[in-house]
Amino acid sequence: MMGVPQAAPARRIGRFRAEIDAALDRVVGGDRYILGPAVEAFEAEFAAYLGVAHCIGVGTGTDAVTLALRALEVGPGDEVITVSLTAAGTAQAILLCGAELRFVDVDRITRCMDPNAVEAAITPRTAAIVPVHLFGQPADILRLVSIADRHGLAVVEDCAQAHGAVIGARKVGSFGHAGAFSFYPTKNLGGIGDGGAVVCRDAATAARVRSLRCYGWDDETRISRRLAGNSRLDEVQAAILSALLVHLDEGNDERRALAAEYRRRLHGLGLGMPPDGPGSVYHQFAVACDSREALRRNLWDHAGIGTAVHYFPALHRQPAFHVAGVSRLPNTEALAESLLSLPIQPEVAGPNLARIAEAVRTEVGRCKRS
Ligand SMILES: Cc1ncc(COP(=O)(O)O)c(C=O)c1O
Repeated sequence: MMGVPQAAPARRIGRFRAEIDAALDRVVGGDRYILGPAVEAFEAEFAAYLGVAHCIGVGTGTDAVTLALRALEVGPGDEVITVSLTAAGTAQAILLCGAELRFVDVDRITRCMDPNAVEAAITPRTAAIVPVHLFGQPADILRLVSIADRHGLAVVEDCAQAHGAVIGARKVGSFGHAGAFSFYPTKNLGGIGDGGAVVCRDAATAARVRSLRCYGWDDETRISRRLAGNSRLDEVQAAILSALLVHLDEGNDERRALAAEYRRRLHGLGLGMPPDGPGSVYHQFAVACDSREALRRNLWDHAGIGTAVHYFPALHRQPAFHVAGVSRLPNTEALAESLLSLPIQPEVAGPNLARIAEAVRTEVGRCKRS
């Protein structure tokens, strides 16, 4: 019996291989391997896709959050509020810009930042909030932006898992002062290496991010104006991302259809389903279940079905983030202990969904009986 991996980025690359090879040929045959025409083209295309004025390609999603915060002049002495149910990069990025981290709880249903918890956590030193559109589900960004506006806070949306997710007709990343994206290979839009981008509306913010990604230079004179390292999206990744961007909406539609099919087939098993909003792009399809470890093990041992745990332990339980000084986040902890991500990548789940759902049904039954 062939196993089903939780994700397999090479299958997505393989599906669009001819277009990717042609894009790579152009990069290899060109003469500018860093910050050349492929990066410029991708930045323009991704900004147009999202409906924002500026896109700046950077080295990773973590750098995208850090550089966005630094460009918005958040740094030492400031507090930044984020969630603990997220990838480590979100919180590392906040610490890396020199700010203090403040975790708040997530909403039990959306699994994203709880606006009421944000209101309660704001202090005179709070400078910014970093909501995460977790698993492709848009956070309650309209309320979060209105809270931030009332308190004069910067908003950096962490869109690493939400390329193309919408609220109404508007894409996430276009609501805050900046949006941060990762193009890690398993993302809905992912390359064959590391990559990231900052998007924003304001030209001055964009210019600061451009400077921060490249030695603190100003573009015109190549004079270093500020402390900065080197975090550039490279031409190879940019060319691949342009080739894949034209297929992003199609892939997101496939993910939505697969999610609907999971809902139908897993109905009545007592699993906690992801929120059922129309704007999600289902980077993950994570179900909440009681005996997660047993279910995960049995799915693999009996049916060869790969699953993943996102995220355990939650960040506030990890040594690097103890500085955040928070002890209890009840919704975060309950979700961190129960969420199991089933395969949802179209190239993986598409041909196997009935088999995966059937195996989940069998194994949930087995867990209940034992
Ligand atoms: C929500 C979130 N934020 C930030 C990151 C960091 O992105 P990267 O791995 O490209 O640095 C990731 C990716 O792992 C992520 O999922």
